[in-house]
Amino acid sequence: MKVVSELLELRSVRSGLESPVGFVPTMGYLHEGHLSLVRQARAECRSVVTSIFVNPTQFGPKEDLAAYPRDLERDLALLNREYVDLVWTPEPETIYPPGFQTWVTVEEATQRLEGALRPGHFRGVTTVVTKLFNCVDPDRAYFGQKDAQQSLVIRRLVQDLNIPVKVIVCPTVRETDGLALSSRNVYLSEQERQAAPVLYRALTAAQLAFLDGERQAEALRKIMSDTVIAEPLADLQYASCADPDTLIELESRVERALLSMAVFFRKTRLIDNLLLEE
Ligand code: PAF
Repeated sequence: MKVVSELLELRSVRSGLESPVGFVPTMGYLHEGHLSLVRQARAECRSVVTSIFVNPTQFGPKEDLAAYPRDLERDLALLNREYVDLVWTPEPETIYPPGFQTWVTVEEATQRLEGALRPGHFRGVTTVVTKLFNCVDPDRAYFGQKDAQQSLVIRRLVQDLNIPVKVIVCPTVRETDGLALSSRNVYLSEQERQAAPVLYRALTAAQLAFLDGERQAEALRKIMSDTVIAEPLADLQYASCADPDTLIELESRVERALLSMAVFFRKTRLIDNLLLEE
C-alpha cells in the first residue's frame, strides 16, 4: 500500500494503477462503515484508492473541527489490511491553496434537512469531493447510505457537471443494537451510548407502521418523534418523512419516502435514515 501526501506523487502513482479504480473518500478515524465501502470497492475494482482529509470547509463555525477525532496510524493499518493500493493524505494547502475562491454548489438538494440546519456544509462537501475526484480521477466512488442527503447531492453533482465517475451508495453498517456507525459515536458517554439506538428504534417503529398500512406522512413523523421524545437523554432536532429524490417533506399519502432524523445527545449530533418503499 502506497501512502502519499503530495499531489504530484498521487498523480504519478495513480497513473500506474489498473482500471477500474475505485475511490473511497474519508475524513479518517475509520470504522467498519468506511471499511465496508473499501471492501465493496475492492470486490468491484482492480485498484482501490482512499483519501483521508478532514475537510475544514464542511464544518460550521459552531462545529468543532479541531476536536474531530483523528488517528492516522490506526487508519493506515486498517486500510493496509483491506489491501488498499493507494492512500492520499493531502495537506490543507493542496486542497485550499492561498487565494482559493472557487466553490462548487448544488442548489436545491442542499437547501433541506441537513443543509437547512448546517449552512455551508454541503458547499464544503461538494467542493472537496469535486477536487478529490479531479485529483484521483476514479472510475467509481463509494459513499454510505447513512449520509443519505450527501449521497443524493453527490449524485446530482456528478450528473450536473458530467464528472465521469459512477457513484455507488452502500448500506448503513450498524452495531448489534441498531446504532449506525459514525466517527462521532466516540463522543457519547456510556449512558448516552445506551440511549443512542433510539434513532434506529424510531425509524423502525415508523417502518413497521408503514408495513402495517400507515400511509400518512405526518403519522409516520409523529411515531419517530414520540419514540425519541420518550428517551430523556435524546434531544430531537428533526424527524422527516420526505420524497427520497427531492427531499421535499411529504404531506399526504406516502408510497416511497426517506425517513430521516437528527438527534442531539448533549453536544453530540447523530443522524440516521431508512428508505420506505411499498
Ligand atoms: O462523508 C465524509 O466522510 C465526507 O463528507 C467526505 C465525503 C469524505 C468529504 O469530506
